[in-house]
Amino acid sequence: MNKFYSVRPVLDKNLKQLYIETYGCQMNVNDSEVVLSLLQKEGYSLCENISEADLILVNTCSIRDNAEQRIWGRLDVFRLEKKKRPGVLVGILGCMAERLKEKLLEHPAVDLVAGPDSYRDLGKLIKALSTDGKQMNTILSSEETYADISPVRMDRNGVSAFISIMRGCNNMCSYCVVPYVRGRERSRNPESILKEATDLINNGYREINLLGQNVDSYMWKDPEKPEECVNFASLLRMVAELDPEIRVRFSTSHPKDISDELIYTMSEYPNICRHIHLPVQSGNDRILEKMNRKYDRKKYLERVAKIREVMPDCAISTDIIAGFCSETEEEHQDTMSIMREVGYDSAFMFQYSMRPDTKAYRHFQDDVPPETKTRRLNEIIALQNELSAESNKKCIGRIFEVMIEGFSKRSDKEMFGRTSQNKVCVFPANGEKPGDKVMIKVNSCTSATLLGERIDINQ
Ligand code: 5AD
Ligand code: SF4
Repeated sequence: MNKFYSVRPVLDKNLKQLYIETYGCQMNVNDSEVVLSLLQKEGYSLCENISEADLILVNTCSIRDNAEQRIWGRLDVFRLEKKKRPGVLVGILGCMAERLKEKLLEHPAVDLVAGPDSYRDLGKLIKALSTDGKQMNTILSSEETYADISPVRMDRNGVSAFISIMRGCNNMCSYCVVPYVRGRERSRNPESILKEATDLINNGYREINLLGQNVDSYMWKDPEKPEECVNFASLLRMVAELDPEIRVRFSTSHPKDISDELIYTMSEYPNICRHIHLPVQSGNDRILEKMNRKYDRKKYLERVAKIREVMPDCAISTDIIAGFCSETEEEHQDTMSIMREVGYDSAFMFQYSMRPDTKAYRHFQDDVPPETKTRRLNEIIALQNELSAESNKKCIGRIFEVMIEGFSKRSDKEMFGRTSQNKVCVFPANGEKPGDKVMIKVNSCTSATLLGERIDINQ
Protein backbone atom coordinates (compact mmCIF):
# COMPACT_ATOMS: atom_id res chain seq x y z
CA MET A 1 0.00 0.00 0.00
CA ASN A 2 1.19 3.51 -0.80
CA LYS A 3 2.47 5.02 2.45
CA PHE A 4 0.65 8.27 1.70
CA TYR A 5 -2.62 6.42 1.15
CA SER A 6 -4.38 8.42 3.83
CA VAL A 7 -5.00 11.54 1.72
CA ARG A 8 -6.96 9.61 -0.96
CA PRO A 9 -10.43 8.11 -0.49
CA VAL A 10 -10.81 4.40 0.18
CA LEU A 11 -13.04 2.93 -2.54
CA ASP A 12 -14.04 -0.59 -1.49
CA LYS A 13 -17.49 -1.98 -2.28
CA ASN A 14 -17.14 -4.56 0.54
CA LEU A 15 -17.13 -1.87 3.21
CA LYS A 16 -20.09 0.20 4.43
CA GLN A 17 -20.81 2.87 1.82
CA LEU A 18 -20.81 6.59 2.64
CA TYR A 19 -22.17 9.31 0.36
CA ILE A 20 -21.31 12.94 1.26
CA GLU A 21 -22.93 15.99 -0.28
CA THR A 22 -21.38 19.39 0.47
CA TYR A 23 -22.89 22.88 0.26
CA GLY A 24 -21.47 26.31 1.06
CA CYS A 25 -17.92 27.58 1.29
CA GLN A 26 -14.48 26.03 0.81
CA MET A 27 -14.32 25.61 4.58
CA ASN A 28 -17.24 23.21 4.35
CA VAL A 29 -15.56 21.29 1.52
CA ASN A 30 -12.54 20.85 3.76
CA ASP A 31 -14.74 19.84 6.72
CA SER A 32 -16.29 17.10 4.59
CA GLU A 33 -12.76 15.85 3.95
CA VAL A 34 -12.16 15.75 7.71
CA VAL A 35 -15.43 13.83 8.16
CA LEU A 36 -14.43 11.32 5.47
CA SER A 37 -11.10 10.80 7.21
CA LEU A 38 -12.81 10.17 10.56
CA LEU A 39 -15.38 7.79 9.05
CA GLN A 40 -12.84 5.83 7.01
CA LYS A 41 -11.39 4.92 10.41
CA GLU A 42 -14.86 3.65 11.32
CA GLY A 43 -14.84 1.32 8.30
CA TYR A 44 -16.67 3.41 5.71
CA SER A 45 -15.77 3.71 2.04
CA LEU A 46 -16.76 6.67 -0.14
CA CYS A 47 -19.39 6.03 -2.85
CA GLU A 48 -20.59 8.25 -5.67
CA ASN A 49 -24.34 7.61 -5.73
CA ILE A 50 -27.08 7.92 -3.16
CA SER A 51 -28.49 4.59 -4.37
CA GLU A 52 -25.36 2.73 -3.16
CA ALA A 53 -25.12 4.48 0.23
CA ASP A 54 -25.62 2.97 3.69
CA LEU A 55 -25.07 6.43 5.17
CA ILE A 56 -25.90 9.75 3.48
CA LEU A 57 -24.31 12.84 5.01
CA VAL A 58 -25.15 16.40 3.96
CA ASN A 59 -22.76 19.14 5.00
CA THR A 60 -24.91 22.26 5.02
CA CYS A 61 -24.67 26.05 4.76
CA SER A 62 -26.80 28.72 6.48
CA ILE A 63 -25.32 31.88 5.03
CA ARG A 64 -28.45 32.86 3.10
CA ASP A 65 -32.01 31.62 3.24
CA ASN A 66 -31.84 30.10 -0.26
CA ALA A 67 -28.89 27.91 0.85
CA GLU A 68 -31.12 26.44 3.55
CA GLN A 69 -34.12 26.07 1.24
CA ARG A 70 -32.04 23.88 -1.07
CA ILE A 71 -31.27 21.52 1.80
CA TRP A 72 -34.94 21.21 2.79
CA GLY A 73 -35.58 20.24 -0.85
CA ARG A 74 -32.84 17.58 -0.69
CA LEU A 75 -34.40 16.10 2.47
CA ASP A 76 -37.52 15.20 0.44
CA VAL A 77 -35.28 13.30 -1.99
CA PHE A 78 -33.61 11.40 0.89
CA ARG A 79 -37.01 10.60 2.35
CA LEU A 80 -37.95 8.85 -0.91
CA GLU A 81 -34.64 6.96 -0.88
CA LYS A 82 -35.38 5.77 2.68
CA LYS A 83 -38.82 4.55 1.54
CA LYS A 84 -37.12 2.51 -1.20
CA ARG A 85 -34.30 1.24 1.06
CA PRO A 86 -35.41 1.42 4.72
CA GLY A 87 -31.93 0.76 6.24
CA VAL A 88 -30.36 3.91 4.85
CA LEU A 89 -29.22 6.49 7.44
CA VAL A 90 -29.25 10.24 6.85
CA GLY A 91 -27.13 12.73 8.80
CA ILE A 92 -27.12 16.54 8.61
CA LEU A 93 -23.80 18.22 9.35
CA GLY A 94 -22.45 21.74 9.35
CA CYS A 95 -23.86 25.20 9.79
CA MET A 96 -27.56 24.45 9.32
CA ALA A 97 -27.29 21.52 11.74
CA GLU A 98 -25.83 23.92 14.28
CA ARG A 99 -28.48 26.57 13.69
CA LEU A 100 -31.63 24.46 13.54
CA LYS A 101 -30.81 21.52 15.81
CA GLU A 102 -34.06 19.68 16.84
CA LYS A 103 -35.98 21.31 14.01
CA LEU A 104 -33.90 19.25 11.58
CA LEU A 105 -33.86 16.15 13.76
CA GLU A 106 -37.66 16.12 13.76
CA HIS A 107 -37.75 15.76 9.95
CA PRO A 108 -38.73 12.17 9.06
CA ALA A 109 -35.74 11.80 6.71
CA VAL A 110 -33.16 12.76 9.35
CA ASP A 111 -31.48 10.30 11.76
CA LEU A 112 -28.53 12.36 12.88
CA VAL A 113 -27.63 16.03 13.41
CA ALA A 114 -24.00 17.05 14.06
CA GLY A 115 -22.62 20.60 14.27
CA PRO A 116 -19.20 21.67 12.91
CA ASP A 117 -17.28 20.99 16.14
CA SER A 118 -18.70 17.52 16.85
CA TYR A 119 -17.32 15.42 13.99
CA ARG A 120 -15.02 13.38 16.26
CA ASP A 121 -18.21 12.10 17.86
CA LEU A 122 -19.74 10.89 14.56
CA GLY A 123 -18.63 7.25 14.88
CA LYS A 124 -20.19 6.99 18.33
CA LEU A 125 -23.39 8.76 17.26
CA ILE A 126 -23.81 6.48 14.23
CA LYS A 127 -23.37 3.35 16.37
CA ALA A 128 -25.96 4.63 18.86
CA LEU A 129 -28.56 5.04 16.06
CA SER A 130 -29.35 1.32 15.94
CA THR A 131 -30.02 1.03 19.69
CA ASP A 132 -31.13 4.48 20.85
CA GLY A 133 -32.78 6.08 17.80
CA LYS A 134 -32.08 9.58 16.46
CA GLN A 135 -28.85 11.27 17.62
CA MET A 136 -27.63 14.85 17.89
CA ASN A 137 -24.51 16.73 18.99
CA THR A 138 -24.34 20.48 18.32
CA ILE A 139 -21.98 21.53 21.08
CA LEU A 140 -19.56 24.22 19.89
CA SER A 141 -15.99 24.16 21.14
CA SER A 142 -13.52 26.95 21.79
CA GLU A 143 -10.58 24.66 20.98
CA GLU A 144 -11.45 22.12 18.27
CA THR A 145 -9.37 22.61 15.09
CA TYR A 146 -9.12 18.95 13.94
CA ALA A 147 -5.38 19.67 13.83
CA ASP A 148 -4.40 15.98 14.05
CA ILE A 149 -6.87 14.73 11.40
CA SER A 150 -5.50 14.28 7.87
CA PRO A 151 -8.39 15.27 5.59
CA VAL A 152 -9.10 12.71 2.84
CA ARG A 153 -9.15 14.69 -0.40
CA MET A 154 -12.28 14.28 -2.48
CA ASP A 155 -11.25 16.56 -5.33
CA ARG A 156 -10.73 14.95 -8.71
CA ASN A 157 -7.77 16.90 -10.06
CA GLY A 158 -5.20 16.03 -7.38
CA VAL A 159 -3.51 19.41 -7.96
CA SER A 160 -4.99 21.88 -5.50
CA ALA A 161 -5.98 21.21 -1.87
CA PHE A 162 -7.42 23.19 1.03
CA ILE A 163 -5.93 23.45 4.50
CA SER A 164 -8.04 25.04 7.25
CA ILE A 165 -5.75 27.16 9.40
CA MET A 166 -8.41 28.38 11.79
CA ARG A 167 -12.09 27.93 12.65
CA GLY A 168 -14.92 30.18 13.76
CA CYS A 169 -15.17 33.95 13.59
CA ASN A 170 -15.17 36.79 16.14
CA ASN A 171 -16.00 39.66 13.81
CA MET A 172 -19.74 39.88 14.36
CA CYS A 173 -20.71 41.56 11.09
CA SER A 174 -24.32 42.46 11.75
CA TYR A 175 -25.70 40.49 8.75
CA CYS A 176 -23.74 37.28 9.31
CA VAL A 177 -24.75 33.99 10.87
CA VAL A 178 -21.23 32.49 10.84
CA PRO A 179 -20.18 33.41 14.42
CA TYR A 180 -23.35 31.75 15.69
CA VAL A 181 -22.96 28.53 13.73
CA ARG A 182 -19.18 28.16 13.76
CA GLY A 183 -18.40 29.58 17.18
CA ARG A 184 -15.44 31.56 18.48
CA GLU A 185 -12.32 32.04 16.43
CA ARG A 186 -9.42 29.67 17.10
CA SER A 187 -6.14 29.21 15.25
CA ARG A 188 -4.53 25.90 14.51
CA ASN A 189 -1.04 24.91 15.58
CA PRO A 190 1.37 25.88 12.72
CA GLU A 191 3.30 22.63 13.08
CA SER A 192 0.20 20.62 12.18
CA ILE A 193 -0.45 22.94 9.21
CA LEU A 194 3.10 22.48 7.89
CA LYS A 195 2.84 18.73 8.34
CA GLU A 196 -0.42 18.61 6.40
CA ALA A 197 1.10 20.77 3.63
CA THR A 198 4.16 18.50 3.45
CA ASP A 199 1.95 15.39 3.19
CA LEU A 200 0.04 17.01 0.34
CA ILE A 201 3.23 17.92 -1.54
CA ASN A 202 4.55 14.36 -1.06
CA ASN A 203 1.29 13.13 -2.57
CA GLY A 204 1.72 15.20 -5.71
CA TYR A 205 -0.39 18.25 -4.85
CA ARG A 206 0.99 21.43 -6.42
CA GLU A 207 -1.14 24.14 -4.84
CA ILE A 208 -2.09 24.79 -1.24
CA ASN A 209 -5.02 26.96 -0.33
CA LEU A 210 -4.99 28.23 3.28
CA LEU A 211 -8.51 28.79 4.58
CA GLY A 212 -10.05 30.82 7.38
CA GLN A 213 -13.01 33.17 7.83
CA ASN A 214 -10.49 35.95 8.50
CA VAL A 215 -6.96 34.70 7.85
CA ASP A 216 -5.44 38.05 8.87
CA SER A 217 -6.38 37.43 12.47
CA TYR A 218 -4.60 34.04 12.53
CA MET A 219 -2.52 33.98 15.70
CA TRP A 220 -0.91 30.96 17.31
CA LYS A 221 0.45 31.20 20.81
CA ASP A 222 2.30 28.16 22.06
CA PRO A 223 0.82 27.44 25.52
CA GLU A 224 4.33 26.53 26.73
CA LYS A 225 6.09 29.54 25.17
CA PRO A 226 3.42 32.27 25.08
CA GLU A 227 5.99 34.93 24.12
CA GLU A 228 6.57 33.21 20.76
CA CYS A 229 3.57 33.95 18.51
CA VAL A 230 3.01 33.07 14.88
CA ASN A 231 0.86 35.51 12.90
CA PHE A 232 -0.55 34.97 9.41
CA ALA A 233 2.35 36.63 7.60
CA SER A 234 4.85 34.31 9.29
CA LEU A 235 2.67 31.24 8.70
CA LEU A 236 2.37 32.14 5.02
CA ARG A 237 6.14 32.55 4.81
CA MET A 238 6.69 29.11 6.38
CA VAL A 239 4.26 27.43 3.96
CA ALA A 240 5.77 29.24 0.93
CA GLU A 241 9.27 28.12 1.96
CA LEU A 242 8.33 24.42 2.04
CA ASP A 243 8.87 24.25 -1.73
CA PRO A 244 9.29 27.17 -4.16
CA GLU A 245 7.58 25.12 -6.91
CA ILE A 246 4.36 24.82 -4.92
CA ARG A 247 1.81 27.58 -5.28
CA VAL A 248 0.22 29.00 -2.16
CA ARG A 249 -3.15 30.78 -2.01
CA PHE A 250 -5.25 31.96 0.88
CA SER A 251 -8.67 33.35 1.72
CA THR A 252 -10.43 35.27 3.16
CA SER A 253 -8.72 38.57 4.05
CA HIS A 254 -10.50 41.24 6.07
CA PRO A 255 -9.95 44.88 5.01
CA LYS A 256 -9.70 45.98 8.65
CA ASP A 257 -6.89 43.51 9.41
CA ILE A 258 -4.81 43.00 6.25
CA SER A 259 -1.36 44.24 7.24
CA ASP A 260 1.56 45.81 5.39
CA GLU A 261 3.65 42.91 6.71
CA LEU A 262 1.39 40.46 4.91
CA ILE A 263 1.48 42.43 1.65
CA TYR A 264 5.30 42.67 1.75
CA THR A 265 5.60 38.96 2.62
CA MET A 266 3.50 38.07 -0.43
CA SER A 267 5.68 40.25 -2.64
CA GLU A 268 8.85 38.45 -1.47
CA TYR A 269 7.68 35.01 -2.62
CA PRO A 270 6.83 34.43 -6.29
CA ASN A 271 5.05 31.20 -5.33
CA ILE A 272 2.48 33.05 -3.18
CA CYS A 273 -0.22 33.74 -5.75
CA ARG A 274 -0.91 37.31 -6.76
CA HIS A 275 -4.52 37.34 -5.70
CA ILE A 276 -6.28 38.79 -2.65
CA HIS A 277 -9.93 38.20 -1.89
CA LEU A 278 -10.89 41.36 -0.01
CA PRO A 279 -14.66 41.51 0.62
CA VAL A 280 -15.91 45.11 0.56
CA GLN A 281 -19.65 44.31 1.10
CA SER A 282 -20.65 47.96 0.46
CA GLY A 283 -19.04 51.18 -0.76
CA ASN A 284 -21.00 53.44 1.59
CA ASP A 285 -19.73 54.49 5.03
CA ARG A 286 -23.11 54.53 6.78
CA ILE A 287 -23.89 51.00 5.54
CA LEU A 288 -20.40 49.74 6.42
CA GLU A 289 -20.85 51.07 9.95
CA LYS A 290 -24.29 49.45 10.20
CA MET A 291 -22.77 46.20 8.95
CA ASN A 292 -20.16 46.52 11.74
CA ARG A 293 -17.34 46.06 9.25
CA LYS A 294 -14.96 48.36 11.18
CA TYR A 295 -13.49 50.11 8.13
CA ASP A 296 -14.72 52.89 5.91
CA ARG A 297 -14.45 53.51 2.19
CA LYS A 298 -11.27 55.57 2.62
CA LYS A 299 -9.49 52.89 4.65
CA TYR A 300 -10.57 50.18 2.18
CA LEU A 301 -9.25 52.16 -0.79
CA GLU A 302 -6.02 52.86 1.11
CA ARG A 303 -5.49 49.08 1.55
CA VAL A 304 -6.14 48.52 -2.17
CA ALA A 305 -3.64 51.28 -3.02
CA LYS A 306 -1.02 49.64 -0.77
CA ILE A 307 -1.54 46.24 -2.42
CA ARG A 308 -1.19 47.80 -5.87
CA GLU A 309 1.86 49.86 -4.85
CA VAL A 310 3.71 46.76 -3.60
CA MET A 311 2.35 44.24 -6.14
CA PRO A 312 1.08 46.00 -9.28
CA ASP A 313 0.16 42.64 -10.83
CA CYS A 314 -1.98 41.46 -7.88
CA ALA A 315 -5.60 40.61 -8.68
CA ILE A 316 -8.27 41.74 -6.21
CA SER A 317 -11.66 40.09 -5.89
CA THR A 318 -14.51 40.87 -3.53
CA ASP A 319 -17.89 40.01 -2.01
CA ILE A 320 -20.79 42.45 -2.27
CA ILE A 321 -24.20 42.51 -0.60
CA ALA A 322 -27.04 44.34 -2.39
CA GLY A 323 -29.95 45.81 -0.44
CA PHE A 324 -28.79 45.65 3.18
CA CYS A 325 -31.25 47.09 5.74
CA SER A 326 -32.20 50.72 4.95
CA GLU A 327 -29.78 51.00 1.96
CA THR A 328 -30.83 53.97 -0.20
CA GLU A 329 -30.38 54.39 -3.94
CA GLU A 330 -27.45 56.79 -3.37
CA GLU A 331 -25.80 54.30 -1.02
CA HIS A 332 -26.20 51.59 -3.66
CA GLN A 333 -24.53 53.99 -6.14
CA ASP A 334 -21.59 54.25 -3.70
CA THR A 335 -21.16 50.48 -4.01
CA MET A 336 -21.20 50.77 -7.81
CA SER A 337 -18.64 53.58 -7.68
CA ILE A 338 -16.21 51.74 -5.38
CA MET A 339 -16.42 48.77 -7.76
CA ARG A 340 -15.37 51.06 -10.62
CA GLU A 341 -12.71 52.74 -8.53
CA VAL A 342 -11.07 49.43 -7.53
CA GLY A 343 -11.75 47.73 -10.87
CA TYR A 344 -12.27 44.28 -9.33
CA ASP A 345 -11.02 41.30 -11.29
CA SER A 346 -13.96 39.22 -10.06
CA ALA A 347 -16.65 39.25 -7.39
CA PHE A 348 -19.22 37.15 -5.55
CA MET A 349 -22.42 39.16 -5.36
CA PHE A 350 -25.50 38.52 -3.23
CA GLN A 351 -28.87 39.93 -2.28
CA TYR A 352 -29.13 40.61 1.41
CA SER A 353 -30.90 37.79 3.23
CA MET A 354 -31.96 38.45 6.82
CA ARG A 355 -30.61 35.69 9.08
CA PRO A 356 -32.24 34.82 12.39
CA ASP A 357 -30.22 35.64 15.55
CA THR A 358 -27.90 38.15 13.88
CA LYS A 359 -27.56 41.73 15.11
CA ALA A 360 -29.39 42.98 12.00
CA TYR A 361 -32.27 40.59 12.75
CA ARG A 362 -32.54 41.85 16.30
CA HIS A 363 -32.15 45.59 15.63
CA PHE A 364 -32.84 46.51 11.99
CA GLN A 365 -35.68 46.24 9.49
CA ASP A 366 -35.20 44.17 6.32
CA ASP A 367 -36.89 47.04 4.51
CA VAL A 368 -35.43 47.12 0.99
CA PRO A 369 -38.20 45.57 -1.16
CA PRO A 370 -37.20 42.24 -2.81
CA GLU A 371 -37.63 43.66 -6.32
CA THR A 372 -35.30 46.57 -5.44
CA LYS A 373 -32.70 44.16 -4.04
CA THR A 374 -32.91 42.10 -7.23
CA ARG A 375 -32.60 45.16 -9.45
CA ARG A 376 -29.60 46.48 -7.50
CA LEU A 377 -27.96 43.07 -7.57
CA ASN A 378 -28.49 42.85 -11.33
CA GLU A 379 -26.88 46.27 -11.76
CA ILE A 380 -23.92 45.15 -9.64
CA ILE A 381 -23.58 41.91 -11.67
CA ALA A 382 -23.76 43.77 -14.99
CA LEU A 383 -21.08 46.21 -13.84
CA GLN A 384 -18.83 43.40 -12.59
CA ASN A 385 -19.18 41.62 -15.95
CA GLU A 386 -17.85 44.78 -17.60
CA LEU A 387 -15.03 45.09 -15.07
CA SER A 388 -14.06 41.41 -15.41
CA ALA A 389 -14.04 41.74 -19.21
CA GLU A 390 -11.86 44.87 -18.93
CA SER A 391 -9.49 43.13 -16.54
CA ASN A 392 -9.24 40.13 -18.89
CA LYS A 393 -8.72 42.33 -21.96
CA LYS A 394 -5.66 43.82 -20.29
CA CYS A 395 -4.13 40.32 -20.35
CA ILE A 396 -4.29 39.99 -24.15
CA GLY A 397 -0.80 39.83 -25.61
CA ARG A 398 0.79 39.05 -22.22
CA ILE A 399 2.43 35.80 -21.11
CA PHE A 400 1.37 34.05 -17.90
CA GLU A 401 2.53 31.00 -16.01
CA VAL A 402 -0.49 28.71 -15.84
CA MET A 403 -0.80 25.72 -13.54
CA ILE A 404 -2.86 23.07 -15.30
CA GLU A 405 -5.89 21.61 -13.49
CA GLY A 406 -7.38 19.39 -16.20
CA PHE A 407 -9.15 19.17 -19.54
CA SER A 408 -11.48 22.02 -20.44
CA LYS A 409 -15.19 21.38 -19.89
CA ARG A 410 -15.93 21.91 -23.58
CA SER A 411 -13.35 19.73 -25.27
CA ASP A 412 -10.67 17.16 -24.52
CA LYS A 413 -8.48 18.86 -27.10
CA GLU A 414 -8.11 21.78 -24.71
CA MET A 415 -6.76 22.05 -21.19
CA PHE A 416 -7.41 24.65 -18.52
CA GLY A 417 -5.51 26.02 -15.58
CA ARG A 418 -5.10 29.19 -13.56
CA THR A 419 -2.73 32.10 -13.62
CA SER A 420 -1.22 33.28 -10.36
CA GLN A 421 -3.98 35.94 -10.40
CA ASN A 422 -6.57 33.12 -10.31
CA LYS A 423 -7.80 33.72 -13.85
CA VAL A 424 -8.93 30.61 -15.70
CA CYS A 425 -6.97 30.10 -18.90
CA VAL A 426 -7.82 27.64 -21.72
CA PHE A 427 -5.32 26.51 -24.37
CA PRO A 428 -4.86 23.65 -26.91
CA ALA A 429 -3.73 20.39 -25.26
CA ASN A 430 -0.40 18.95 -26.24
CA GLY A 431 0.38 16.05 -23.90
CA GLU A 432 0.45 18.12 -20.70
CA LYS A 433 -0.88 16.77 -17.42
CA PRO A 434 -2.61 18.30 -14.38
CA GLY A 435 -0.08 20.00 -12.09
CA ASP A 436 2.27 21.01 -14.93
CA LYS A 437 3.15 24.69 -15.15
CA VAL A 438 3.24 26.09 -18.67
CA MET A 439 3.80 29.55 -20.17
CA ILE A 440 0.72 30.76 -22.04
CA LYS A 441 0.43 33.74 -24.33
CA VAL A 442 -3.09 35.15 -24.11
CA ASN A 443 -4.66 35.80 -27.54
CA SER A 444 -8.28 36.58 -26.64
CA CYS A 445 -10.75 36.41 -23.77
CA THR A 446 -14.33 36.36 -22.57
CA SER A 447 -15.39 38.03 -19.30
CA ALA A 448 -14.78 34.69 -17.55
CA THR A 449 -11.85 33.06 -19.36
CA LEU A 450 -8.52 33.80 -21.00
CA LEU A 451 -7.82 31.93 -24.26
CA GLY A 452 -4.22 31.39 -25.26
CA GLU A 453 -1.49 29.18 -26.61
CA ARG A 454 1.56 27.61 -25.14
CA ILE A 455 4.86 29.28 -25.90
CA ASP A 456 8.38 28.06 -25.42
CA ILE A 457 10.02 30.75 -23.35
CA ASN A 458 13.51 29.88 -24.68
CA GLN A 459 12.68 30.51 -28.34
N1 5AD B 1 -27.06 37.92 3.12
C1 5AD B 1 -26.40 38.00 1.94
N2 5AD B 1 -25.09 37.75 1.82
C2 5AD B 1 -24.39 37.42 2.92
N3 5AD B 1 -23.10 37.12 3.12
C3 5AD B 1 -22.93 36.82 4.42
N4 5AD B 1 -24.07 36.93 5.09
C4 5AD B 1 -25.02 37.31 4.19
C5 5AD B 1 -26.40 37.58 4.27
N5 5AD B 1 -27.07 37.52 5.42
C6 5AD B 1 -22.10 37.16 2.05
C7 5AD B 1 -20.99 38.16 2.37
C8 5AD B 1 -19.84 37.26 2.73
C9 5AD B 1 -20.09 36.06 1.85
C10 5AD B 1 -19.39 34.82 2.28
O1 5AD B 1 -21.49 35.89 1.93
O2 5AD B 1 -20.72 38.89 1.19
O3 5AD B 1 -18.58 37.86 2.48
FE1 SF4 C 1 -19.42 28.38 5.08
FE2 SF4 C 1 -20.67 30.37 6.33
FE3 SF4 C 1 -22.03 28.76 4.76
FE4 SF4 C 1 -21.12 27.91 7.10
S1 SF4 C 1 -22.63 29.51 6.80
S2 SF4 C 1 -20.97 26.84 5.13
S3 SF4 C 1 -19.17 28.99 7.24
S4 SF4 C 1 -20.44 30.14 4.09
